[in-house]
Amino acid sequence: MNHDLINDFKNAKTVAIITGAGISAESGIPTFRGDQGLWKNFRAEDLATPDAFRRNPEMVWEWYDWRRGKCAAAEPNAAHVVLAEMENYFDDFLIITQNVDGLHRRAGSKNIIEIHGSIWKARCTQCGNVFASEVTPLAEIPLKCQDCGGLARPDIVWFGESYDMGLLDRAFSFLSQSDLVLIIGTSGMVNMPLYLARHALDGNAVLVEINPEETSMSSMMHYTLRDSAALIMPELWQKIRNI
Ligand code: OAD
Repeated sequence: MNHDLINDFKNAKTVAIITGAGISAESGIPTFRGDQGLWKNFRAEDLATPDAFRRNPEMVWEWYDWRRGKCAAAEPNAAHVVLAEMENYFDDFLIITQNVDGLHRRAGSKNIIEIHGSIWKARCTQCGNVFASEVTPLAEIPLKCQDCGGLARPDIVWFGESYDMGLLDRAFSFLSQSDLVLIIGTSGMVNMPLYLARHALDGNAVLVEINPEETSMSSMMHYTLRDSAALIMPELWQKIRNI
């Protein structure tokens, strides 16, 4: 492993992590793209859009509850665990994740921004109430609001929907202060990680990518580590701590 990379980690005080589906792949949660990806077997426009939910809330909830079952059965892997430990090592540390699976939190991480929402939260389409919904399989589909009884939807950013600007502002301002940004397991096919990484680069951060495959962001990186996150992260962590 490159010596300068380890030094860059050791010298960094403010560290941001951007994660995508690849970090949870070894926990057994399918990614979205690629041969085994969710979007190979399901059409996003039938399941992950406001229109799909208007047409058929039962089907959308069935699909999300199936995915919730997969997330509940999964355990955080070595990459999630290392990130939780890293949080105590650096002065400032933030995980910006596109994942909705909750595995960062279950691994013990505290500073997390879930920019695509959470599969463990629901939002009422009538009163806007956001509430935790952590039991799977659901007793009743579609899920109803705990307050007003209105139709609830997964609290997830669907295709064609806007990001939560408050969350994005926090992410961008942290990235502009970051010394080092580690980008793990995201294809960059949804453009947000690209914008986040570019913003960090403008602020002079060192960029590191962990992904077995080249991505649309690879050319921006100072370092690219081409292997699985669960393999690389413990090795990297040992070297940073001189073990
Ligand atoms: P993708 O499925 O697009 O990309 C997963 C990436 O992880 C790919 O670049 C893989 O090469 C990489 N990968 C696979 N196994 C890995 C491993 N063991 N270690 C490290 N990397 C690995 O997933 P995302 O980029 O997260 O949005 O997709 C972004 C968004 O598109 C998702 O959040 C989702 C989807 O539509 C919503 O559902 C709102």
